[in-house]
Amino acid sequence: MPDTLTIKDNRTGKQYEIPIESGAIHATDLRQIKTSDSDFGLLSYDPAFLNTASCKSKITFVDGDAGILRYRGYPIEELAEKCTYLQVAYLLVHGELPSKSEYEQWVHNITYHTMVHENVKKFVDGFHHDAHPMGMLVSTIAALSTFYPDAKNIFDEKSRDLQIWRLIGKIPTLAAFAYRHSVGMAYIYPSNDLTYAENFLSMMYRPSWTTKYEPNKTLAKALDVLFILHADHEQNCSTNAMRTVGSSHPDPYSAAAAATAALYGPLHGGANEEVVRMLEEIGSVDKIPEIIRQVKDGKRLLMGFGHRVYKNYDPRARIIKKIADQVFEVTGRNRLLDIALELEKVALSDDYFVKRKLYPNVDFYSGLIYQAMGFPMDIFPVLFAIPRMSGWLAQWQEMLLDHEQKISRPRQIYLGYPERHVP
Ligand code: CMC
Repeated sequence: MPDTLTIKDNRTGKQYEIPIESGAIHATDLRQIKTSDSDFGLLSYDPAFLNTASCKSKITFVDGDAGILRYRGYPIEELAEKCTYLQVAYLLVHGELPSKSEYEQWVHNITYHTMVHENVKKFVDGFHHDAHPMGMLVSTIAALSTFYPDAKNIFDEKSRDLQIWRLIGKIPTLAAFAYRHSVGMAYIYPSNDLTYAENFLSMMYRPSWTTKYEPNKTLAKALDVLFILHADHEQNCSTNAMRTVGSSHPDPYSAAAAATAALYGPLHGGANEEVVRMLEEIGSVDKIPEIIRQVKDGKRLLMGFGHRVYKNYDPRARIIKKIADQVFEVTGRNRLLDIALELEKVALSDDYFVKRKLYPNVDFYSGLIYQAMGFPMDIFPVLFAIPRMSGWLAQWQEMLLDHEQKISRPRQIYLGYPERHVP
């Protein structure tokens, strides 16, 4: 049987053979379907990209029905168990896990670029004391583009590599500076003798009057695993922003700032913060039936539940539940955990959630861990942005080198006035 689709246009009676490739038709093949020579041709209408592939990618595979997530073919469970976040970041960007020497060089390059220009501190100083850290992060990532005019050479491989090291290296520093500013504490410079996650914890929590600070190894390891789980998730809202903005060929700092802004929203990376706020609001297990009723009445969303792609348990949520036990052994049990566990139990046995295939997603338990580790709630989306930087950069580079890609420019269906005239 040929891999084609036969379409009959009942307006004209004409029939068309459209090739099917990798389970998809080219939307531009529909343009030949016209009612007259002046007709623009048939469009596909797909608000929010519900059924439109915008690219071909070799980076991340998600099977939402089976609850499978793989980076470059490796199951997320194996990567979380056997790799460091920086190995995974290398895998995403370069396509293969690094050899020992490649890894050492990669870690060196990223560590070497963790410092930021002193002027960046002045930007952060300029923010109001209660500025949201995501707002500060979006702005400072964008500001980096002004320090590195060489970053415009996006088709130069060496320049791209340099910006990738800089962005992965500097984002924890920007994030920690934003936090320290919001609590009125002196900024802590990066420590190059620490691992990626340890260095972040040090910049967040080291008292400014000492250079001695030993991050807890269990907490640093847990954070590193959380970084792995958040590193990429194929064509979601922020990755699409990275690719779309990147498609007009600005430097990667500008594109990454746009991606970070997209991640900020409560329906995306802001959900981890909203979950904890919701659990705080519920306050006790006996209030759960009331919340479930409000959700079923369409009055609110159950934050941390549901996903555009996963119609099964999010595999990342499963791993996070396990890490939670290790973290709580060090920090003490988060008092909200019992509410979260009961909420999950009630929701998963309720017809409303079962019918709609709404399961806990990555954000349902991550916030509880962050909270137990002492992170304030409004920094949670920042903790998502730090590791997602490697995924965004891998996707940005793939887009740039893909000869089928052009500047991103959707069509619209115009439903406004026909021509009219000013009286
Ligand atoms: N609580 C209650 N009902 C929900 C929820 C929820 N969290 N999510 C979806 N639904 C309902 C929705 O109202 C709709 O019902 P109906 O068919 O009766 O109209 C049905 O389920 C299908 O939902 P949808 O809105 O068509 O799904 P979507 O693919 O457009 O949205 C989502 C996906 C993640 C934005 C949405 O599930 C949601 O808002 N969840 C809460 C926010 C959240 O946890 N976001 C984190 C996502 S995972 C990490 C990330 O990618 O950032």
